[in-house]
Amino acid sequence: MGRGRYPARLNVTPPAPDLAARYLQVWSGRELYTSPEQFPLISSPGLFGNDHPLELDVGCATGDLLLALAVQHPEVNYVGLEIVAKPLWRAVERAAAAQLSNLRFLQVDARLACRQIGDGALRAAYIHFPAPLLRNRQRNQILIAPPLLAQIARGLALGGTLSVMSDQPALYAQLLSLLPALPELRPLPTEAWSVTISDLIKSHYHRRWEERGRPILRVELLRV
Ligand SMILES: C[S@@+](CC[C@H](N)C(=O)[O-])C[C@H]1O[C@@H](n2cnc3c(N)ncnc32)[C@H](O)[C@@H]1O
Repeated sequence: MGRGRYPARLNVTPPAPDLAARYLQVWSGRELYTSPEQFPLISSPGLFGNDHPLELDVGCATGDLLLALAVQHPEVNYVGLEIVAKPLWRAVERAAAAQLSNLRFLQVDARLACRQIGDGALRAAYIHFPAPLLRNRQRNQILIAPPLLAQIARGLALGGTLSVMSDQPALYAQLLSLLPALPELRPLPTEAWSVTISDLIKSHYHRRWEERGRPILRVELLRV
């Protein structure tokens, strides 16, 4: 069964300039690569001008997870990274409708953006249902890879967590195979996982794969 073309099919228009200025930054990959010093750190001071705890969603699509968390926890900042514009336009619409001030979205390639995460700047990070990118020529675009995981490990504060979910057994196995090289990310026992992100908050993709009977594979890693 196909994995669908959901983000590309969204019927959504770019946000008005005032909403874009409030919620959305577009980071050029070329400029980020050549002149990273021109971009703010991904940190609460860098993106929100305060020192509240910060959580990051890598590949956030329409921001389902972050919108729900941001409403529940106004004292926490949330930032979503997404490479495609349309789902972020929808996420901005929803953030504005809920009048959220603790949420920002970056349209950017997460593989480059994660280098901008401040050391220990994150309380939590999420990589949920990353695209499998099964064709060979897409292999180097995969998110579950050592460089991105190492940057997230560096960006997590001690005691912070990284949650990964996938419906792809091969991708999940790949993650598990990479963990011995990342001893600073230690798998948590199931009973210590955050309840909210599995039982209370389900993204479009989470519900889609569940409805289609796909396995929902998950691990939560503690930064030690
Ligand atoms: C299957 S969706 C999952 C969305 C969401 N995390 C969820 O749980 O519903 C994967 C998302 O990752 C985004 N993505 C893929 N590669 C990316 C990259 N290099 N940087 C940022 N986002 C990326 C895709 O555009 C897509 O919106």
